[in-house]
Order: sequence, then structure tokens, then C-alpha cells
Amino acid sequence: RRGNPVTVHFVNRDGEKITAKGSPGDSLLDLVINEDLDFDGFGACEGTLACSTCHLVFSEEVYEKLGPVTDEEMDMLDLAYGLTDTSRLGCQVCLTRALEGMEARVPESVADIRQTQDSSS
Ligand code: FES
Repeated sequence: RRGNPVTVHFVNRDGEKITAKGSPGDSLLDLVINEDLDFDGFGACEGTLACSTCHLVFSEEVYEKLGPVTDEEMDMLDLAYGLTDTSRLGCQVCLTRALEGMEARVPESVADIRQTQDSSS
């Protein structure tokens, strides 16, 4: 075991709160997958920084604890629909003890840039 689980409260698109626990070191995307959370279209590229469907919005206090944003994440975040100053990509945010009890809001809409690029399917 990698230590005590970290509790995360997700707020889904209907404003419902969903509480899940993940291991420190897991990403928020891992948590969504492992706990089988039903956020439609979330994590479409499976954490390879090729979509932006794992866009999550945080409070300022939480955002400051999330760690650095890479240029690659920044580029992809720029494409996220409804970007905020406290947005991150869930597949790039790893759980730490300091994040215990954090809240992560799933934005109402997602833009999967792969779908916009290929509208024929
Ligand atoms: Fe696609 Fe995070 S899952 S960028």
C-alpha cells in the first residue's frame, strides 16, 4: 500500500457531489477510471495530453497546492472549453496528502479537439 487514500469530492455537471478515494501518486484521471465515475467523455485520450476532456476546475486554495503546470498541459488547457484561472487537466494532477478533501468540478462542456478536427465521423 502506498499510504492512506486521499479523499476527493467531485462535482459533476448536474452539480451532484461524488466522493471518491485514491492513492497518493495517482492522477485524478486514474481516480475517475478506477472508481468508475460516470463523467461522459472524460479522459478521452487516456492521459496522453491529446484532448482536454479531463478539464477540471478548482478553488484557488486547492489550485495553489496542485503543483506546476507543464507547457504541454498549458497548450492543451488553452483548447479546453470554458477555461478558468484555476483550471487544470485531471490527467496531469496527482494526488498528495495535502489535497485531502479537495473539491474538483467537472465543467459543463468539454471540447475534444480530436472530434472538432474530424467532424466526418
Ligand atoms: Fe486527454 Fe487529459 S485525458 S488530456
